Amino acid sequence: LSGREIRETFLNFFAARQHHILPSASLVPEDPTVLLTIAGMLPFKPIFLGQRSPDFPRATTSQKCIRTNDIENVGRTARHHTFFEMLGNFSFGDYFKEQAIAWGWEIVTKVFSLPPDRLIVSVFEQDDEAFQIWHEQVGIPAHRIQRMGEDDNFWVSGPTGPCGPCSEIYYDFHPEQGDATIDLEDDSRFIELYNLVFMQYNRDVAGNLTPLQNQNIDTGMGLERMAQVLQGVPNNYETDLI
Ligand code: ALA
Repeated sequence: LSGREIRETFLNFFAARQHHILPSASLVPEDPTVLLTIAGMLPFKPIFLGQRSPDFPRATTSQKCIRTNDIENVGRTARHHTFFEMLGNFSFGDYFKEQAIAWGWEIVTKVFSLPPDRLIVSVFEQDDEAFQIWHEQVGIPAHRIQRMGEDDNFWVSGPTGPCGPCSEIYYDFHPEQGDATIDLEDDSRFIELYNLVFMQYNRDVAGNLTPLQNQNIDTGMGLERMAQVLQGVPNNYETDLI
């Protein structure tokens, strides 16, 4: 699939599930707390915080991003960029964890046809519910669900603001290395493709978490990373997108 086809396939999958396709917002955000748009969720921050009512309960976008918080990695890894696109599906107090996981798995394995035995998932270490959904409902063996700490699996868009535990789908380039030594930090073997954030808290300057009015979903699939995997090229720079 070309990059354009991956983008259209993602947006159409969620449009068929009652998500409104919205255009990418500007790279220069209205949000005064960040310099540039770093994620697909940024334009929706006021909705997550309950400051603005959504026009629709569900949306899907391909958001242009500059990930200032990952900028030190650009040029050092095969997967970080200055500019990239993040595909996302969003729920504003509508569906939550179970549905986001079910659709996430469906699009990756049934629509993009990645073999389940090439996929590993991570969950926040305290999120037993997400672990159970992956294990019991999706059927992922327990040893292929990694529990990870706050640095990896609790997503925040900045020092303050909407946040929550997340669950990520990783692709395994080298399944022949076996399941005994799964280290998701090893980027010669794994690449994170899709992050599902269970956006349910607001973090204040003191670091306190207050539950948001609604339980929301914020997701991000790296378009260039998906293209790397589906196009079978060794890094993002060799995809048709770049
Ligand atoms: N907001 C989440 C991220 O950027 C999906 O990874």
